[in-house]
Amino acid sequence: MKIGIIGCGYVGSTVAYAVLFKKAATEIVLIDKNHQRAVAEAADISHAIPFSHAIDIYAGDYSDLKGAELVIIAAGVNQKPGETRLQLLGRNEAVLRQILPPLLENAPEAMILMTTNPVDVMTHLAAKLAEELGYNGHLVFGSGTTLDTARFRSLLSAKLGVAPQHVHGYVIGEHGDSEVLTWSIVDIGGLQLDDFVAAQKLTFTDADKEQIDEQVRRAAYVIIEGKGATYYGIGAAVANIVDVVAHGQKAILTICKPLKEVEGIADVTLSMPHLIHGKKRMMPLPLKLSQEERKALKQSASIIKKFLDDFKN
Ligand code: 2OP
Repeated sequence: MKIGIIGCGYVGSTVAYAVLFKKAATEIVLIDKNHQRAVAEAADISHAIPFSHAIDIYAGDYSDLKGAELVIIAAGVNQKPGETRLQLLGRNEAVLRQILPPLLENAPEAMILMTTNPVDVMTHLAAKLAEELGYNGHLVFGSGTTLDTARFRSLLSAKLGVAPQHVHGYVIGEHGDSEVLTWSIVDIGGLQLDDFVAAQKLTFTDADKEQIDEQVRRAAYVIIEGKGATYYGIGAAVANIVDVVAHGQKAILTICKPLKEVEGIADVTLSMPHLIHGKKRMMPLPLKLSQEERKALKQSASIIKKFLDDFKN
């Protein structure tokens, strides 16, 4: 599959590198306003090809996107220490308006995968702008809380002594401070969390839950304080999405997409588990959440909706 990556900063270049090792693409076009950076990233990553598989990776411009089935937008500014993702919107929306027209002109059939933060709002704006430009906004989706779900599963699996692939649970809602961990539907080997803990004679208290919640919700802030940005986690999460799309896997991922209604909030974009059934078909799953989780999801949807409405006015 041919993909394009627009924005070759930490995230975009790490996505390209992770896609190489996932063997999820046969051709990767790197586009950046700093073309020299794109050329250097392509050259550097191409030296890893002998350790993975043959791909064609090169720096190009929008005309090179022709034939791309998936284009990843990773351009924009990232959070400064202590800055929330939502605070990036003004700067990154302007970048989006520069990118979308030439992208859609050259790759009108491509799926668009947004990773730039605030990813939920940016995905919503990209879908609306694509429709305004005469393209199918439904081809636009975002990395959403796929990384947060991975963080949740990774932390919970370590606490329970089970491989993360066998710990099922989601993070839904905003990819940000109001995200919701779906504790009530956590499933380990077919057992609910409390039943698994009892069966394994483990200790797992409310304080442990609160600690994991805090670690998931604050993960990016902590990493950004230490190294200025996050990119390996999101790079791997996005490469996994590319792999699922490229190989027509019927995976369930917490991507974000515009949704008609969430807990009474209409026309909002946030993350829910979607069955990704090959290219261009993503069906949200109707989760049976606890009342507390539904309330938190409504709050998250309201925060995103308010941000969208304030930004539009
Ligand atoms: C992350 O969660 C900053 O959104 C990025 O790592």
